Amino acid sequence: MRIVHTLAELRAALAGAPAPAFVPTMGHLHKGHLALLRLARENGGPVAASIFVNRLQFGPNEDFDRYPRNLGRDCELLEGAGCDLVFAPDEGEFYAEPQTYTIQPPAELAGILEGAFRPGFFTGVCTVVMKLLQCVQPRIAVFGKKDYQQLMVIRGMVRQFALPLEVLAGETLRADDGLALSSRNGYLSASERAEAPQLQASLRAVQAAVKGGERDLVAIEARAMDTLRSRGWQPDYVAVRRRSDLQSPSADQVAAGEALVALAAARIGKTRLIDNLEL
Ligand code: PAF
Repeated sequence: MRIVHTLAELRAALAGAPAPAFVPTMGHLHKGHLALLRLARENGGPVAASIFVNRLQFGPNEDFDRYPRNLGRDCELLEGAGCDLVFAPDEGEFYAEPQTYTIQPPAELAGILEGAFRPGFFTGVCTVVMKLLQCVQPRIAVFGKKDYQQLMVIRGMVRQFALPLEVLAGETLRADDGLALSSRNGYLSASERAEAPQLQASLRAVQAAVKGGERDLVAIEARAMDTLRSRGWQPDYVAVRRRSDLQSPSADQVAAGEALVALAAARIGKTRLIDNLEL
């Protein structure tokens, strides 16, 4: 496995080889990332991953500085998972000048849910993903469904810019108690970690209510948020949305069996977790 840090090294490593399947990451890898890597490998050909904590997608009061970084361990895991090439850009080169050209995803999709609580987040994600795709020129790029809205925003970008690659979605990996694997789980204290599966449990309660025929989605969402609050969480949102565009479904659409997804973001202590569940 080759590890490269500069664009010149990356171009030399890619030259003459078939276009890779690519897994962009911010490092601090867990089994969820390794499952994305397996999905990339299943499609044949070389596999590349990137490790880059992208400051453009962090707000001023977010965890950019304390985001966990351990390149040595990450590279061992990637090598064990069959990765061929790791691009861990040198930030001084990758953002050698301020990144004033950016990708602005549409507000209807990127200004809601995560975008409403993390202004600029999806601009930062799209800009770095576009740049990484330009650098790596993959034939496949793999993203996790844990970041459901991110996956949709990136799919839209790839489609509208006619980028010559296929986007694959990896299923969310969970701990035995239901907690979605996330690099941020490492921030949780023991008692917070014990409570954390309640986020998924709240989505399951939403699912049970909708499947049980309840039609007042606003009431279902409010109940789930109240339950989280009563357990010490500070929820940003629990929302039932159409899978197609993440907009709220009408009552008629719910009754007609529209494909839905429930999404949630909530803080436990200082840690903000997100999760989702296709209903
Ligand atoms: O999902 C992530 O880890 C990041 O948002 C991504 C896609 C690697 C861009 O920095």
